[in-house]
Amino acid sequence: MTASLLNTGILTEIAGQPIPDLARQFGTPAYIYDAATICRKIADLAAFEVVRYAQKACSNIAILDLMRRNGVLVDAVSAGEVGRALAAGYKPGQTAHPPEIVYTADIFDREALAIVVEHDIHVNCGSPDMIEQYGEALAKSRGRGRPGSLDGGRPGSPDSGRPGSVAGITLRVNPGFGHGHSQKVNTGGAQSKHGIWFEQLEECLERAARWNLTITGLHMHIGSGTDLTHLSEVCGAMERAAITIGSSIQSISAGGGLPVPYREGQQYIDIGAYHKLWDAARHRLANQFGHEISLELEPGRFLVAESGYLISEIRAIKTSGDNTFYLVDAGFNNLARPILYGAYHPMAVCPADGSAALRPVKNVVVGGPLCESGDIFTQEEGGFVASRSLPEAKVGDFLVIGVAGAYGYAMASNYNSKPLVAEVLIERGKANLVRRRQTLDDILRLESIPG
Ligand code: LLP
Repeated sequence: MTASLLNTGILTEIAGQPIPDLARQFGTPAYIYDAATICRKIADLAAFEVVRYAQKACSNIAILDLMRRNGVLVDAVSAGEVGRALAAGYKPGQTAHPPEIVYTADIFDREALAIVVEHDIHVNCGSPDMIEQYGEALAKSRGRGRPGSLDGGRPGSPDSGRPGSVAGITLRVNPGFGHGHSQKVNTGGAQSKHGIWFEQLEECLERAARWNLTITGLHMHIGSGTDLTHLSEVCGAMERAAITIGSSIQSISAGGGLPVPYREGQQYIDIGAYHKLWDAARHRLANQFGHEISLELEPGRFLVAESGYLISEIRAIKTSGDNTFYLVDAGFNNLARPILYGAYHPMAVCPADGSAALRPVKNVVVGGPLCESGDIFTQEEGGFVASRSLPEAKVGDFLVIGVAGAYGYAMASNYNSKPLVAEVLIERGKANLVRRRQTLDDILRLESIPG
């Protein structure tokens, strides 16, 4: 279902399931995902031999399982995401090429360092310090004769951190420029905390060599929701960086960032043209190094955004001055993109009785239940309240927010002590509850009153 279809204003079903039935069965608010859309998006990227899902966009293990069943590998940015990948059936270890799970981050917290070593997860380092920390942790673990031990080095000796054999790492490089749908998601340039600055690669080679680590690949991700012009610039930067590292490079990753249309009139980027650019870069590098170079893509949003809908119930309709407000039972605790980035999401009304009859439209402001004035879904960057042309509605009708599959549930919170909502995956005509709604007990269980 595209943004433009939602913008006709009335939507009565999702993947063939009547919205009132979904609301009755799973309650509102709820996130509903259409598996067929995800499969279609995976197929759109068939030209790329390795597609690695950036699970931060939507990390429910049922979604990860769907990706895995459809040949998509996975990226993890935390110990928790590595754990999710394992729970969804991705295999740990680096013997497979390419590895099924890659950990990409700018730091290791202690949990992440422990889990990548324990499960032999491939590491994509976004800071020079990670090289040292990984080298040391790996050497210690191997030196103690744990599974995967290479040299039996004595822990505690000056040399204990130097295994006799070599492990591979990749580097996430900041090419010196970036671009995204908002400045908050631009991940390149000197103001970005992400990646290893492109002028520090020689130093990284030395660090890696000190720990007997080989740099086997490079990765660049300049931002989220960018455009073809900016994405294309990355190819040249990648080639320059790969030549600096040399022929140990076996793989390059173009990162994620592929935009999807949220508004009517926005276009998909030309995936064929994008692939062509990267394929050419990869072949030039293969010629230069005299061996094959594998090419990865690491999309999040592109694979899941359009599959997801946040369904909510309109609980109050009121006017303040010239503004009419539809107040729904979902808020920025469920979908934070509008308050964070002024992000636009298409919306539609589903009448309580499921009727598809067209209704007159009016300009309305759509807000949620939270005790905060920024809890408005129709806002622009900077917090300016905007209105949306939507069908006339009554309390009890449903409001559906579309293109919500990416960075929707994944960024939800318990603000105002609102429980996290249910997630439902519709696959082959069946609506499956893939995460039950949280209860207040689930929340309170973690808390205690001292004494
Ligand atoms: N790879 C890396 C290293 C990333 O940092 C990201 C996103 C991706 C891949 C996937 O990017 P995508 O293909 O989804 O654009 N919360 C924001 C987006 C933050 C993206 C963070 N990193 C939003 O709702 O727009």
